[in-house]
Amino acid sequence: MKKKDTSWEEVEGWYSASVGEKGHYYHRTLILPNALKLLRIKKEKPPSVLDIGCGQGVFARCLPPATTYSGIDASPSLIEEAKKQTKSPSFNFHHADATKPFPIEKTDFDCAIFLLSLQNMEHQEAAIANARKHLRKGAHLLLVLNHPCFRIPRQSSWGIDEASKQQYRRIQRYMSSMKIPIQMNPGKKEQSAQTFSFHHSLTDTIGFLSKARFSLTSLEEWCSNKKSEGAKAKMEDRARSEIPLFLALLARAE
Ligand SMILES: C[S@@+](CC[C@H](N)C(=O)[O-])C[C@H]1O[C@@H](n2cnc3c(N)ncnc32)[C@H](O)[C@@H]1O
Repeated sequence: MKKKDTSWEEVEGWYSASVGEKGHYYHRTLILPNALKLLRIKKEKPPSVLDIGCGQGVFARCLPPATTYSGIDASPSLIEEAKKQTKSPSFNFHHADATKPFPIEKTDFDCAIFLLSLQNMEHQEAAIANARKHLRKGAHLLLVLNHPCFRIPRQSSWGIDEASKQQYRRIQRYMSSMKIPIQMNPGKKEQSAQTFSFHHSLTDTIGFLSKARFSLTSLEEWCSNKKSEGAKAKMEDRARSEIPLFLALLARAE
């Protein structure tokens, strides 16, 4: 894969360590439990799962061992880490670009997930259309996104309205599609490493889904569950509970 691809290869050591075995704070406390619930993953009869942009395999590790599982990611080192960390020998991990045809033969998965990965892919429409080719009719696709309305890197931030003493969210740009460089901050070695976030409006994302023959079945917005301390705690906690951090879109393959 070319150096200029969108994989997280350059930051894989830092990213893998920050996710760890069980996931980072938001994985553990919000994202993974809610994703398992939305996809109705049960121990007794697990569905087959396609994990697109699987990273070092954090979602795979919370699935029942009897799951039929394939994960793909554009970073070869994250894929190696996922293979190393899995306790389920039947799980498959592939180094592949999700915006190109997948190196997977199965075309009847019960569900697919982009877990915080779609917004790191440049051609999201192609990645979603590729996912559809590997799902059976009636299967579910779950997109877990940084909330595209409120959490747009470099284009949104917190502010305080001095008159009302209320914290608000400033949104500078939203409708335009944007390729936004993200300077990773993992410390010494990989300090200068850069990844990209590819922003699209909700209208665009739902358009990508419907063009690939998915229909939206539900939508959830998840707020940060962190709590502040000190003089501004009440104001900050209120703002956090009003402005969601993540958006989950569940769609059905038609
Ligand atoms: C924020 S990480 C999320 C990884 C994992 N799902 C998790 O929650 O820990 C985004 C992932 O998307 C992967 N990625 C970026 N562009 C990709 C592409 N075109 N095809 C496949 N994976 C890609 C990156 O390598 C990275 O592992």
